[in-house]
Amino acid sequence: MPNKQPSNETDKIKVDYIAKRCIHSRKCVLGLPNVFKPGVKGGWILAENADVEELVDVIKSCPSGALTFERLDNGRVETHNSIPTVRLWENGPIEIRADISMSDDATKSRALLCRCGKSKNKPYCDNSHIDADFKATADPKSLKGEAVEDLLGKPLNIAEAPNGPIILEGPVEIIASSGRSLAKHTKTALCRCGASKNKPYCDGSHAKIDFNTAS
Ligand code: SF4
Ligand code: FES
Repeated sequence: MPNKQPSNETDKIKVDYIAKRCIHSRKCVLGLPNVFKPGVKGGWILAENADVEELVDVIKSCPSGALTFERLDNGRVETHNSIPTVRLWENGPIEIRADISMSDDATKSRALLCRCGKSKNKPYCDNSHIDADFKATADPKSLKGEAVEDLLGKPLNIAEAPNGPIILEGPVEIIASSGRSLAKHTKTALCRCGASKNKPYCDGSHAKIDFNTAS
């Protein structure tokens, strides 16, 4: 089970936090400093200190999915009307925003997945790319894609090939860090060992380097 820290709840919203998924991007702390107070004893999320809609907007800006919420008042929830996206981070992970279908039930809308191969919390990023000095462009040339229109509205299924790539199945658009569209796919395999010569895609290099997802 994910390592959950204290959550905070009002009559309108329940906020949850998965510490192992946080990469300290500080969107929460900078967005609502009265709510997200690292170091406060007994729980660092003080949900009652903000308007619920503002709180929802800041939680949705959390790229890692460490922060999630449940509305208790039938209010606005997190939806993805457009095509699911995979955004490349320069020398870092991939950011997924989609209606996610994954074996991990805690991941429903947002995730940062490791692509350097060094995370101790695979498939999620844990910032190991920084110490590993991982290099991977977030702005490659546009890539060859395929038509996805028939699948729009379907969730994005994310699976982990043992000692191999991340398999995405469903409509998805790969985008550069700038937001520039690179390619659309209905099924693709993305490198997560760090060794592919064709990043962000898997090119089979994981076999040559004996990539081990357990380490
Ligand atoms: S926005 Fe999310 S990833 Fe960033 S510090 Fe807050 S909880 Fe962690
Ligand atoms: S997972 Fe990196 S090349 Fe296949």
